[in-house]
Amino acid sequence: MTDRRPGPGELARLKREAAEYAVEFIQSGMTVGLGTGSTAAFAVRRIAEFYASGRLRDIVVFATSNGVSREAEKLGLPMLGEDLPREIDVTIDGADEVDPDLNLIKGGGGALLREKIAAQASRREIIIVDEGKLSSQLGTYFPVPVEVLPYGWRSQARYIASLGGDPALRMLSGADPFRTDQGNLILDCGFGPIADLAGLAHKLEARAGIIEHGLFLHLAHDVIVAGRQGIKHLRAVNSER
Ligand code: A5P
Repeated sequence: MTDRRPGPGELARLKREAAEYAVEFIQSGMTVGLGTGSTAAFAVRRIAEFYASGRLRDIVVFATSNGVSREAEKLGLPMLGEDLPREIDVTIDGADEVDPDLNLIKGGGGALLREKIAAQASRREIIIVDEGKLSSQLGTYFPVPVEVLPYGWRSQARYIASLGGDPALRMLSGADPFRTDQGNLILDCGFGPIADLAGLAHKLEARAGIIEHGLFLHLAHDVIVAGRQGIKHLRAVNSER
């Protein structure tokens, strides 16, 4: 990440610029995945503007969280059923940390499970970030969010600790734990820089009670990075798009 994070006003401008650049890839008739978080929110609003003005016609959207679903409905966007009856053409989502291979840490907003379902169901996953999210090695700046079933969750916390993570139960502002849209808990797991991403992902996926983790490996086709010097469009090496 850059040494100096921009102030809130500049950060919001960068997020909006990345979002607006990404929305240009949406065409009329598409099924569009809507990501969760403050950056993706700019894309949702832009899509709604284009839909209302008729610049985008016949689109249908699929939301990655209950919050985004409510927002999209309020903005008058036609919603696809939660059973996801068809593939998504383009999803636009944010991320917490992005490495040079376009691997991601996601889940700062707690929507990682639905976001991964949408990403895996998308022909094109476009990630939008400000330049402060770039990192040479995932885990350097952001803990890995891990969604766990409340039943037996402390056992999963011990397991993650045995893998070298430092699990912290995500809390709301009071004494209550944060709950995901599925009613599960989030453990924010500080691993530090992660040398073997695939190995860690595999170990997390092998454990009963761990519902999903926030390592998104080889899922992003494009990463749009907004910085003080303008927009950079990074493309996955093996992406055909
Ligand atoms: C939501 O669960 C996350 O994956 C977000 O997409 C991610 O935390 C980025 O959020 P911001 O755009 O708010 O930084």
